[in-house]
Amino acid sequence: MSIRAKVAGIGHYLPQRVVPNAEFEKTLDTSDEWIRSRSGIERRHFAAEGETTSMLAASAAEAALKDAGLDASDLDALIVATSTPDLTFPSAATMVQARIGMTGGFAFDVQAVCAGFVYALSTANAMIVSGQAKRVMVIGAETFSRIMDWTDRSTCVLFGDGAGALIVEASEGAGTAADRGILSVDLHSDGQFRDLLYVDGGVSTQSTGHLRMEGKEVFRHAVEKLAQTATAAMDKAGISSEEVDWVVPHQANIRIINGTARKLGLPMERVVVTVQDHGNTSAASIPLALSVGKAEGKIKQGDVVVTEAIGGGLAWGAVVLRW
Ligand code: UT7
Repeated sequence: MSIRAKVAGIGHYLPQRVVPNAEFEKTLDTSDEWIRSRSGIERRHFAAEGETTSMLAASAAEAALKDAGLDASDLDALIVATSTPDLTFPSAATMVQARIGMTGGFAFDVQAVCAGFVYALSTANAMIVSGQAKRVMVIGAETFSRIMDWTDRSTCVLFGDGAGALIVEASEGAGTAADRGILSVDLHSDGQFRDLLYVDGGVSTQSTGHLRMEGKEVFRHAVEKLAQTATAAMDKAGISSEEVDWVVPHQANIRIINGTARKLGLPMERVVVTVQDHGNTSAASIPLALSVGKAEGKIKQGDVVVTEAIGGGLAWGAVVLRW
């Protein structure tokens, strides 16, 4: 017998305002054609003025609770993966706790940029497997529109805002790959790549800053490291590529998603793609894609799902689970 962290519910929230690529043509030397062909992005959502990360996260959390048929009081812990919290402190997670009326348990943020959801899910898994928590809400939520340099065409056309939430709960399994729940985790980071993707400001430097990225270099690392970490996680779980029902990758660029799937030997028919509608929503992209994938009837109970992500740090990783 072994304890597994099993999926109990999922939900997401996207801000109302949808911005098509063409809107950037008015202010930048860019085109819908360039953005589509280089990234696969067609549109993204931007939060309204005054709409913050914890608001998006709370709406996603409420959708996940509804999907699971649970109340906020049924949760032991709540983790928010974000690089764009409302305030320096308290954590976005405690603000979400208050918004959804969860007065017990504990809540905290995880910061691993675009790999944040994978890191947070791995943390929830460790707490469940160790017996520290029985039911954990894991949220990825971002308002990257707040850290864009709107004069930098190489970055500002790529990102969007949104939130996704997944509830995992303790469940007894046999300890084999046939169990439902999280089957394996693989995490990495290497701080020597800081300058490839970062925000040139922060609390300790007394500014908010803007996102800066060496896109071509990040791209090169992404395909290689995502394929490596997904393969490592599949090996740890004892799952072959034939047994994978769905890859749910971080949604940064369709060319990275294609390249990684090819390296994994998986056809695109088994990859959930939302980058065209959401852009890159950093830590929110995987839970958003999981939620959309389930809502579209793709991800079903018993399916093997591989998630993988990479972002600033560089930090990257993968989680294999049976839904
Ligand atoms: O979530 C964290 C992980 N982040 C990522 O995974 C992002 C990784 N990188 C990428 O997705 C791609 O590298 C980009 C989409 C950012 C760029 O695609 P690329 O094929 O690597 O293009 P590039 O950076 O090599 O730029 C090609 C050309 C350049 O012009 P020159 O130097 O060839 O004259 C750019 O100045 O495209 C130009 N360019 C643009 N043109 C029109 C850059 N941005 C734009 C733009 N519109 N928005």
